[in-house]
Amino acid sequence: MSPKKKLAYAVPKLKDFSTAALEKAAKELLSALVVESKAVDSEDEWKVFRDRWMARSNGVLTQINEAWLKTAPKDAKRDAGQCVNELKVEVEEIVTATSGRVLGGARSKGQTVGRARTRDSAFALPAGIESPGGSVDITLPGVRRPLGAEHPVIKTMNEMVRVFRNLGYSVEEGPEIETDYYNFEALNFPPNHPARDTQDTLFIANQESKPLRERLLLRTHTSPVQIRTMEKMKPPVRVVCPGKVHRNDAPDATHSPIFHQIEGLAVDTNITFCDLKGTLDHAMKEMFGSSVKTRFYPSFFPFTEPSADVQISCIFCGGRGYRDGGPCRNCKASGWIELLGCGMVDPNVYGFVDYDAKRVSGFAFGMGVERIAILKYGVDDIQLFFNGDVRFLEQFV
Ligand code: PHE
Repeated sequence: MSPKKKLAYAVPKLKDFSTAALEKAAKELLSALVVESKAVDSEDEWKVFRDRWMARSNGVLTQINEAWLKTAPKDAKRDAGQCVNELKVEVEEIVTATSGRVLGGARSKGQTVGRARTRDSAFALPAGIESPGGSVDITLPGVRRPLGAEHPVIKTMNEMVRVFRNLGYSVEEGPEIETDYYNFEALNFPPNHPARDTQDTLFIANQESKPLRERLLLRTHTSPVQIRTMEKMKPPVRVVCPGKVHRNDAPDATHSPIFHQIEGLAVDTNITFCDLKGTLDHAMKEMFGSSVKTRFYPSFFPFTEPSADVQISCIFCGGRGYRDGGPCRNCKASGWIELLGCGMVDPNVYGFVDYDAKRVSGFAFGMGVERIAILKYGVDDIQLFFNGDVRFLEQFV
């Protein structure tokens, strides 16, 4: 760049701060900038060019800040400020675009990397000014912003919650980092009870000095929210508690150390196992279609008595156990798929929350959300929910 060109533009002092005058000054500045940018041919020249326009000490941007903004009369301050800010953006754009041209896209040190726009993007230059990177093709399509969608796990969770809201249930939530008391003790898992082994718990380290019930862990199920809910409200209680839970399981096609559950709890006078059966049968039909059947299979949970696992008739083979001339893979030819755990709230649990076990009764259930989503959408690997691959997620829009 010859010294002559370098001095071609000098920041004028403004007397008139009207919008028109500011626009005219801005246009002159940009024209000069573009002319100078075209003369830049090497990395060294670009550095000089960058400093001339952007150096903090006395670059053109600093000069216009002094000469146009600071000296502007009070009532013109806003316009002058806006004008200077817009120029800053445009000067940065053009200096960056020039480096793109000269350095062939390689970024030099002093360049701002944060700005998303590049030389090719179609920023609008004032009329009559040519872009340094060639002309701007205004017929190119705009930037398309992909629409977001609900994640299939959240979607399933919301659908399930809606089924229970329609039955008059309300929604409660609890913390993911729980104490041993809420995750185990108050749910009738005594210390060292073997039922704790089924929960593959992730404990928070270095808590040996605390009493067991105060030690923190990542909740292994949403059942602690049952206790928290009963502590804060008296019967009648009808709540569902959706949320994330954690277990120390190695990830594979059917296991994930993080997954989601929906807990349900209904406590009132005269609630029976019949109510539990009717409620869950209705919920499964809402979720999987009215032809689905349910079956209750004896099971064990410390906080329910009696307890049951609920199975639904296989939605892939219609409960027949065979499909396409062979045994059904999804239900291992049994015609049934196990879906959730449930039972009548154990009277010992009422003792922990100050309910009168002689006067009230209730049921609870807990189901895995991913498991339901896997069945509903025919997904064959639970990891797909967590990998964040847009090609998978897009299918649920
Ligand atoms: N919390 C149990 C589990 O995660 C499921 C369950 C909830 C069972 C409520 C009975 C009642 O395995």
